[in-house]
Amino acid sequence: MKDSIRLETQLVIAGRDKRYTQGAVNPVIQRASSLVFNSVKEKKFATANRANGELFYGRRGTYTHFAFQKAMSELEGGVGCALYPCGAAAVANAILAFVESGDHILVTGAAYEPTQDFCTKILSKFNVETTYYDPMIGAGIADLIRPNTRVVFLESPSSITMEVQDVPGMVKAIRSVNPEIVIMIDNTWAAGVLFKALDFGVDISIQAGTKYTIGHSDGMLGTAVSNARCWDRLRENSYLMGQTLDADTAYNGSRGLRTLAIRLRQHEESSIKIARWLMNRPEVARVNHPALAQCPGHEYFQRDFSGSSGLFSFVLKKRLSDEQLAHFLDNFTLFHMAYSWGGFESLILANQPEELNEIRPAGAVDFTGTLVRVHIGLEAVEDLIADLDAGFGRIA
Ligand SMILES: Cc1ncc(COP(=O)(O)O)c(C=O)c1O
Repeated sequence: MKDSIRLETQLVIAGRDKRYTQGAVNPVIQRASSLVFNSVKEKKFATANRANGELFYGRRGTYTHFAFQKAMSELEGGVGCALYPCGAAAVANAILAFVESGDHILVTGAAYEPTQDFCTKILSKFNVETTYYDPMIGAGIADLIRPNTRVVFLESPSSITMEVQDVPGMVKAIRSVNPEIVIMIDNTWAAGVLFKALDFGVDISIQAGTKYTIGHSDGMLGTAVSNARCWDRLRENSYLMGQTLDADTAYNGSRGLRTLAIRLRQHEESSIKIARWLMNRPEVARVNHPALAQCPGHEYFQRDFSGSSGLFSFVLKKRLSDEQLAHFLDNFTLFHMAYSWGGFESLILANQPEELNEIRPAGAVDFTGTLVRVHIGLEAVEDLIADLDAGFGRIA
């Protein structure tokens, strides 16, 4: 796709080839296990091209999947997109594709907790060792690389504490030590489009499409877009691990893309307004919104991202007692307590510093107050502020 086309337009047209839409606006929903060959010649052709977008067998995908995969590859600038039943499967299978017994990997110490658990509890069983690094390590990552380091895993911004990583600085440092290392990123916060990871030299951009791609909190989806160097191995390993997605969810992935730009714009506008409002609250010590200067790595956000989504956190000056925290969280009208963000609705959760430290293997947090994480949805921002204001009233 031409670079001159803007994101909004790209999202509307991506993957809508006539072959996949059959004359409709959207791709067909082709539910299939078996795909029927009309002749021996056709079967031979399908077999030879089974990894290249020819109908072969349900687990390899149908036109519905191909349309979505093509769209994702175009949008993130890769040569292929592997699909998974959820984001956690995308993370696990992407890493697994590039390691073997005796290898070492580097993973950000502020990664999404199940990513860490996969490394600590599953990879360790196969004699793959994980070292967790400080998310703000930057070019210092080079010092942690060993001769057997195969993968460096990034997540930017970090889960919960929101540090933005110096991705180009890290990529340069890693490549200068060993250009063969596979660099992958959990790019869910940026929905794969606000930070174009592959343009910055990352090999594989992973997303929990469950979040912004699906966008309505009603489906689970994982995507991993790869550059040419890593695509064949990622695709074949994921296939051999039985990773597949149902056609209806693949369809919903494509459908989510059509409104992604406009949704993200609203998440950005409302979340920045609320983050600024929070900065002026006497109860708040710090606001970790990548678009605001208080967030660690804000300078990298400004340099590398084209916009912001709606998830951020803030730290209260005081540590709330269990009773205060329950009183604060239990009584919101619009903010609901739930884990999976990226939908149209606003969410709120909180962590005490010691809880965060349990999931930060590369260093403790530098604050003592309670941390609150919010996802700002598509409700009117004034209503959300009123809801938060009432919450602060409950902990005055
Ligand atoms: C940053 C990040 N990566 C991956 C995942 C996993 O996605 P899924 O729930 O689709 O497995 C999540 C889910 O919350 C997430 O926040």
